[in-house]
Amino acid sequence: MDKTKILFVCLGNICRSPSAEAVMKGILEKKGLDGNFEIDSAGTAAWHEGEPADPRMQAHARKRGYNLTSISRPVRPEVDFDKFDYIIAMDDQNMRDLKRMAEKEEHHKKLFMMTDFAKEFSYRSVPDPYYGGDEGFELVLDLLEDSCGGLLEKVTDEQSDK
Ligand code: 4NP
Repeated sequence: MDKTKILFVCLGNICRSPSAEAVMKGILEKKGLDGNFEIDSAGTAAWHEGEPADPRMQAHARKRGYNLTSISRPVRPEVDFDKFDYIIAMDDQNMRDLKRMAEKEEHHKKLFMMTDFAKEFSYRSVPDPYYGGDEGFELVLDLLEDSCGGLLEKVTDEQSDK
């Protein structure tokens, strides 16, 4: 079976999407499913290209057992829209930017909001924590843990329908 490829996208790729990548990988490892998936993250902006995740985000994630190892990179539309099966935006601006980059109908069909998969929380987006305090980083992790669990259920349901 081909690997299912998921790309998480935020603005800078130093807070929310690297955390989504780590949370999803953590869930998959726990379930022994990591070999079936390829998980990556990217930013709609290239401002932080080449940088590790924000130290505040890393510290909050580490307290929950997640090691943020990814290095920031911008979305590469010419590669990413063909390569990935699911491209998941953290907020409405990310989604607008991705829709602008997506050229084909089949690319648009791959776009989802992270919070579409939430089961416990009812937030419209994963709010940008960059200019706020500790509670914003904790909220990001709460929303991602909830939504990544729901995302895995959706993906495994779709795989069993095939
Ligand atoms: P992220 O957070 O999109 O979750 O990585 C941000 C990172 C950097 C900036 C804004 C948001 N920035 O303005 O540099």
